[in-house]
Amino acid sequence: MKLEDVKKIAVIGSGAMGNGIAQVCAMAGLKAVMVDIKQEFVDKGMATVNKSLDFLVSKGKLTAEKKAEVMGNLSTSLSNAEAVKDAQVIIEAVPEIMSLKKTVCAEISAAAPADALIASNTSTMSISEIATAGKNPERILGMHFFNPAPVMKGVEVIYAKQTTDANVDLLCELTKKIGKVPIKVLKDSPGFIVNRIGAPNQALISAILDDGKLKTDSIDTIMKAMAGMPMGPFELADYVGIDVFYHTLKYYSETLSPEFKPGKVLQNLLDSKKLGMKTGQGIYTWEGGKAKIDASEQSKDIGPMDFLAIQINEAVRVFKEKIAASAADIDLGMVHCMRAFAGPFTLGAGMEPSQLADTLNKLHTRFGLKIFKPEPEIVDGSFKTMK
Ligand code: 3HC
Repeated sequence: MKLEDVKKIAVIGSGAMGNGIAQVCAMAGLKAVMVDIKQEFVDKGMATVNKSLDFLVSKGKLTAEKKAEVMGNLSTSLSNAEAVKDAQVIIEAVPEIMSLKKTVCAEISAAAPADALIASNTSTMSISEIATAGKNPERILGMHFFNPAPVMKGVEVIYAKQTTDANVDLLCELTKKIGKVPIKVLKDSPGFIVNRIGAPNQALISAILDDGKLKTDSIDTIMKAMAGMPMGPFELADYVGIDVFYHTLKYYSETLSPEFKPGKVLQNLLDSKKLGMKTGQGIYTWEGGKAKIDASEQSKDIGPMDFLAIQINEAVRVFKEKIAASAADIDLGMVHCMRAFAGPFTLGAGMEPSQLADTLNKLHTRFGLKIFKPEPEIVDGSFKTMK
């Protein structure tokens, strides 16, 4: 199959990611069918896209005619088999439950054309394991969008064990066609590149919440002011969803290290359905899509240096494990998928190795987590030669 042959995309799942992905494809002139298990779910997905396009019209970024054209490219279905039978690319964005992903993969790979690409939008899970359930696994791969999909530029394109180069290249071409920047992930490893680099920071967030002595507001405030992040780390956890945040940590605790186990505060938030923005309450109270954060103070304790040192350390591990093709690709991923103003290797190049190592050793001692210990390449500064 060639890029010109791709005319119709089927998106399985109409939740936050699914409807955002369908919007992006429809805006690029492709037909996109959004599938879910209940009419009310697809209706909600369509309403979200409609609202999002209205916002772009109100900002003068889209004409009313173009909006009508985009809406005309979209349709909905309650049947996976029906939706995929004439699709060239299928993007699965169902909840992060391995058994569900496998069932969906089996169903869609049986009903889709034999050469249709089948991509999972999983944010952490093994694509190779999902692919064991599917027909023709050489066309099964990962296509990981970031939230909100219409805004975030980066998309990770992930090799599963049996994916062919040609299929990865085709998906990268398609990613460019829909206005995104593809980041190739060479090894199907938990969290891939970008979320993996964020994993130990998630563990730090959980440890800070359990410690209970530090004000999340003041940490988020300094992170936005000094590290140029659009959202602070606690705010982002609420934005992505405490359930998603919790489940990714749990997955890392089962696959990377038991130290990623979500802490008590996250567990309590999950149990009491305080899931962040979507329920109006999480770490913060949310109103009108914004977290109520007291920005009057900036943390003098934990701050940008801590989060950055952890990020650079994990980026070194991602590099050594050959998950990415290069240090430049890792940086590209962090810039386009997280809207960071620069990637970990670029930022690390200007820093003293001893300062990074000291910061990491202090975090290791303070929170008792070995995942914060500096890699040897941080200590001797040789991470700066990683290309
Ligand atoms: N469609 C297209 N563009 C949109 C849009 C939409 N629906 N909604 C907003 N935009 C554009 C706006 O036009 C604006 O563009 P401009 O800067 O060129 O004017 C820009 O996005 C910002 O929009 P707003 O001004 O309305 O809103 P904010 O400035 O409050 O930004 C935000 C909101 C984009 C969510 C921002 O806070 C942000 O980038 N947060 C960080 C998000 C992030 O890090 N996501 C990654 C999460 S991790 C993840 O997804 C992993 C997964 O595996 C779980």
